[in-house]
Amino acid sequence: MSATAEATIEVIPFDAPLGADIRGVDLQRLDDASFARIKEAWLNHKVLRLRGQAVDDDALADFSRRFGPLDKAPITQHGSPFQPKRPEVTVISNIIVDGRPIGGLGAGEAEWHTDMSYNEVPPDASVLYGIEVPVGHGDTWFADMEAALAALPEAMQARIANLRCKHDATRNSAGFLRAGYKEEYDPEERPGALHPLIRTHPETGRKSLFLGRRRNAHIMGMTPAESDALLDELWAFAVRPEFVWTQKWQPQDVLIWDNRCVLHRRDPFDASLRRLMHRTQIQGSRPF
Ligand code: OGA
Ligand code: MN
Repeated sequence: MSATAEATIEVIPFDAPLGADIRGVDLQRLDDASFARIKEAWLNHKVLRLRGQAVDDDALADFSRRFGPLDKAPITQHGSPFQPKRPEVTVISNIIVDGRPIGGLGAGEAEWHTDMSYNEVPPDASVLYGIEVPVGHGDTWFADMEAALAALPEAMQARIANLRCKHDATRNSAGFLRAGYKEEYDPEERPGALHPLIRTHPETGRKSLFLGRRRNAHIMGMTPAESDALLDELWAFAVRPEFVWTQKWQPQDVLIWDNRCVLHRRDPFDASLRRLMHRTQIQGSRPF
């Protein structure tokens, strides 16, 4: 590591179970030593925030690619990508132009979720950049699933150790039905992916709860009633305030979270406010 990177980069943990600010970095001029320090801080703190970054889609994608190859943006409720020429950059926005949303998720609540865990190989990370954000509205919350698992009573840890959960692909985190799916499915046949309820982080070796999203989730081999009761109990535990940090956005904030070991959600906000964010998602590996 170069002396310069050591001297200029500061990692300032939040007064919370997870997350840290990174100061002293310009993402447009990021050397390898600085990146190594960011990567290390990210594995330790799970969510990083870098304020005051003036990045366009190229710079956002270039920074994101240092963590690994990028996944394409998820399927939208309309079926067509928001930026066809930029398949790796997702648009998150409530702005409507000529009657058409320019991005996903609208202004409503985005319920607690992991990004794209309805895929067999969900992304390792998401990088979310606030281009236009109404200050004081639309906070994004993060919950530490390693801390939640560690705090879970041992009997419950043992009970869920070998269970697998279906992660539903049909709706996004704002509840919109994605193009091409029906309203109703049999719980075990539902489109999506099966993942272990407890997953091991491939880089740190640490274990965390891996819940995805609550809506339409189903634990394989259980009746819907048994599965719902167990999932409700796990969810109520997982998002307790002691595991949570809340991001209050400013324009030019870049956030990167470890999608393998945190959940996130977004508060609803006044639909007359304009909010525009661009996101990349870093390709992951099959959860185990
Ligand atoms: C996302 C997401 C939250 C927000 O981009 O994956 O959940 O604050 N966004 O818009
Ligand atoms: Mn999300």
